This record gives sequence, C-alpha cells and structure tokens, in this order.
Amino acid sequence: MERLQKVLAHAGVASRRKCEELIRSGRVQVNGQTVTELGVKVDPAKDRIAVDGMPVRLETRKRYLLLYKPAGVITSVRDPHGRRTVIDLLEGVPERVYPVGRLDYETEGLLLLTNDGELAHRIMHPRYELDKVYEAWVKGHPDEEDLRRLREGILLEDGWTHPAKVERLAERSGRTLLRLTIHEGRNRQVRRMCAAVGHPVLVLKRVRVGFLTLGRLRPGEWRELAPEEVRRLRALVGL
Ligand code: URA
Repeated sequence: MERLQKVLAHAGVASRRKCEELIRSGRVQVNGQTVTELGVKVDPAKDRIAVDGMPVRLETRKRYLLLYKPAGVITSVRDPHGRRTVIDLLEGVPERVYPVGRLDYETEGLLLLTNDGELAHRIMHPRYELDKVYEAWVKGHPDEEDLRRLREGILLEDGWTHPAKVERLAERSGRTLLRLTIHEGRNRQVRRMCAAVGHPVLVLKRVRVGFLTLGRLRPGEWRELAPEEVRRLRALVGL
C-alpha cells in the first residue's frame, strides 16, 4: 500500500505537492469515492483512482529512455497538426512515457522520456537544474565580446540568462560551432541567446544532460537507461 499522493505523482499526474492540492480540493476519487485526506493509502494494483472523474493509468514498470531526437519531430505526446512526435519513435514501448522538458521541432539531440513523474518534475525544476550542453552552429564569427556576453548573461524578453559556459569549437566559412552549457530550460533559450549577440543559430543539437551523453545512438534511436544511471540521476536531484 502506498500513499495516494505518491501514487498520483508516480503516475505523472503532477508533482507530489500539486497532487496533495488536488486531493485536498476534492478532485481525486478512489474506487468512486472522493478522498480529501492526505493520509489515505491505496493499492496501485487494485484500487481504481481517478482525477476529476478521469481514470489515472497506474504504470507498474518504470521506464527511463534516452532518445536521440532527430530534427523535424515535435517534443509532445500528441500534435494537433499531425506532425511526427517523439512518442511515434518509441516503437515497442507500451508504457505511457513523457518527455522531460522539450527540444524545439528543428533541434536535435538528447531527450529523456520517462513515466517516473517525480523524477521528471525534479529534472525540470530550476532548483535541481542539471547541465544541459548544446552544440550550435551559428551564423558568422562571434568575437570575444560576443562570447563574454553569452557567458555573463543576456537580457532576453523574459529576463537575464544565468551565466553560461561557452566555447568556440570550430570555424568554417561564414559559420562557427559553439558549445554552450546552460542550467536553465527556457523556451528556445539557446536560439534567443545567440540571436541576441547577432549570430543566429543555424543548426542546434543537445549533446549532454547531466552525465548522460548521446554515445553511439544515431538520430531516431533510443536506449533504456541502465539501473546505475537511473540511480545516479535520482541522486543528482535529491531522490
Ligand atoms: N534552446 C533552444 O533554443 N532550443 C532547444 O530546443 C533547446 C534549447
């Protein structure tokens, strides 16, 4: 038997704290009865749990997948415009997993997917922000002053970016390859940062999250995390 809020959080409904609010506000039912107390314990294998009358699917097997998202695929479970989603790439995975954060449609690279709601919430939470490393081909040749601005912080429309690590990896005619390490996960952040210093991104790839890298994966391929990797990841976010 497990506490109701924990079962809901594990099912990916919301963070544990949000699930407690759902229970307190009378939106959670167990076997058809509304439950508003937080101490209630349930058996995920037997009890029928619902939020606002909608049954909650209780996943039994936890899945932790590392996908090499190709460009031209949307980071979403469903797309109203019928575009290919990252879930379409996960053949043979019957569990309902969710992307941890998002990569833009045109961005490729490392994306985690899991049905462990609590871990996913923590990985995305600013307090535990893990290193996210991107390789960006940008237009033109940023000078030292551009790199300094990227490193120290850029004022975007949603505020200053935190300090970033920025290295120049290669130069070709008319373009430069940068490696940027950031801890935040704002919408289109790397693209907006580079555009703000006058060097828009041409191609963007996420190559690392925390200690996880793409390794030998090719675009469109995925692998299951090893138990040791899951343990390390959980430890990094205080679980
Ligand atoms: N920054 C971006 O601009 N795009 C992404 O997909 C991820 C980070």
